Amino acid sequence: KIYANSDEASRSVALEIASIIRQKAGEGKPAVLGLATGSSPKKVYKELIRMHKEEGLSFQNVVTYNLDEYYPMEPDAVQSYVRFMREQLFDHVDIPSGNWHLPDGTLPLEKVADFCHDYEEQIERYGGLDFQLLGIGRNGHIGFNEPGSLVNSKTRLMTLDLTTRIDAAGDFGGLAKVSKKAITMGINKIMEAKRVILLAWGEHKAENVARAVEGSVSADVPASYLQHHTNAAFVLDNSAASQL
Ligand code: GLP
Repeated sequence: KIYANSDEASRSVALEIASIIRQKAGEGKPAVLGLATGSSPKKVYKELIRMHKEEGLSFQNVVTYNLDEYYPMEPDAVQSYVRFMREQLFDHVDIPSGNWHLPDGTLPLEKVADFCHDYEEQIERYGGLDFQLLGIGRNGHIGFNEPGSLVNSKTRLMTLDLTTRIDAAGDFGGLAKVSKKAITMGINKIMEAKRVILLAWGEHKAENVARAVEGSVSADVPASYLQHHTNAAFVLDNSAASQL
């Protein structure tokens, strides 16, 4: 889906999320959302906050599982995805505090594998993700599933690619300070989500968007796995779509 700009595109994605939330609320059920960080989803979250404040959209029945978090990472650090999500969404809506979840960057290493297993089990107990929001990294990653990630990969500790770390260097005050690892939801859970939307804005995303959408499905470009999802959409602005 190609839009003139990211404002229009983000509004339509927020509307879709709101309609899932309202439909589930009407059924007396939780809306289970997989959420993403990065600059791409910011306007979607802004629009959801506006709908909460101006249109009474309630997040009381919303349960969220974020894709990823750097490891190690303290939740109040400026680079923390916990902090990002609180600032960009959670602190501005009425989501109950126990309802949002992110991978825990403070765990001792020996507890990470059990945490990852439990994260997936929690999602499964809800019957899976009703919706998954994604961005795309410069190397075609989704979440922190770097190139080489398999389609059946589970939630796990991942070693970050150099490109990913270079792109994060600004946030960390230099490449040397960027985390070398992150905990990421695996491709498997993303592919099991009932609906997936990947957002990409700008010329710098165009080449990877084209590889993901029109190239061969391959672990070299993890976003290309979405070609095999039956209900996935790439929501793009004109620039991100310019090489299609
Ligand atoms: C990070 C995140 C990804 C995100 C990517 C792109 O690597 N872990 O989930 O998609 O950045 O970020 P942006 O949306 O800022 O381009």
